[in-house]
Amino acid sequence: MEHKTIAILGAGNVGSTLGAAWAPLGHTIIYGVRDPGHERHNSVAQTARGARIVSIPDAARQADLIVLAVSWASVPKVLQECGNLDGKTLIDVTNPLSFENDIIALTKGFNTSGGEDVQRLVPKAHVFKTLNQASFTVMGQISGYPTKPVMFVAGNSAPHKSQVLSLVSQLGFDARDAGPIESCRFLEPYAMLALEQYVKYGADSSHAFAFMKRQQGDEIVEYIAYQLTQHTPDAFLASYTTACQFLDSAPQCLGYELTQCADDANRFILRIRWQSAPAHLEGFRKGPHFPPFLAAIKDYIPEITQMCHYLPTPLVRVKQGL
Ligand SMILES: NC(=O)c1ccc[n+]([C@@H]2O[C@H](COP(=O)([O-])OP(=O)(O)OC[C@H]3O[C@@H](n4cnc5c(N)ncnc54)[C@H](OP(=O)(O)O)[C@@H]3O)[C@@H](O)[C@H]2O)c1
Repeated sequence: MEHKTIAILGAGNVGSTLGAAWAPLGHTIIYGVRDPGHERHNSVAQTARGARIVSIPDAARQADLIVLAVSWASVPKVLQECGNLDGKTLIDVTNPLSFENDIIALTKGFNTSGGEDVQRLVPKAHVFKTLNQASFTVMGQISGYPTKPVMFVAGNSAPHKSQVLSLVSQLGFDARDAGPIESCRFLEPYAMLALEQYVKYGADSSHAFAFMKRQQGDEIVEYIAYQLTQHTPDAFLASYTTACQFLDSAPQCLGYELTQCADDANRFILRIRWQSAPAHLEGFRKGPHFPPFLAAIKDYIPEITQMCHYLPTPLVRVKQGL
């Protein structure tokens, strides 16, 4: 992974979260703020591994990759302060919102967008709208989701876009190209939908959108039940910890879950989702991941009480997690 110097303009919720997430990956963070000497920035600098806190023009000068993480109202002034941004990559995380009488509203739509305004203000910069479609809570910890949260990236320059997609993926998002800068007309209302869920409809701010591909076409589920009579549960779990690494790396395996009976610790059920029966029986069983998988668990084969493939039925409801 190539390490970058990233200037983040704005050290508020989003700016500080992104700096804290990128710095441990080896990127150098420079914050550009309007009051660099203010003590509230000390902890932000610390969480981004000793990031420098400088003025907005200084930060913009010191990096080719700039993140615009300020309030929408301050965008024109902040961009003007940056000076020459020609040729630089500008990641615009803002949403064009107004906050009149405590009512949050989207101020652009249909035939233009905030992202296009930003591109017009700095016409020779490579502007990308992204990281505007989820809360900073999501950006700070992208783990524990059953499917990777999606994050779209809109902007014009293909070579620079791949760099932005990579930075977004490094945070843990399913980063996807949403087309040119005009696609901000879709991405900003879509961000507003998330915001309304958070502020009006009771979704806590860890909720995130996912963009999922159906996989059950030929998907099958394998259940393997064990009744341990010769081995201890601890030994069994240790062996499966090794074996599961080979399920992790086998592309035919869509996921698995090993559960232990709450009433009898010697009983286990392993559930494995496979792309299809041939993918399991031909692809996995005849591929490179099966021999080391089998080697790790072969001692337990005599303790298997059931091993069958099951097909999905229409009665499926995913309520949480699995
Ligand atoms: N909150 C979210 O979950 C979220 C998610 C996605 C996108 N966004 C968007 O990301 C942007 C930042 O949101 P946030 O939640 O991080 O906001 P925030 O916590 O209120 O931080 C806003 C930042 O903008 C700076 N700022 C405001 N006016 C300025 C000015 N005139 N000159 C220079 N800097 C100025 C503030 O600096 P001071 O500290 O000096 O006041 C602060 O660093 C917004 O456009 C928002 O729509 C937010």
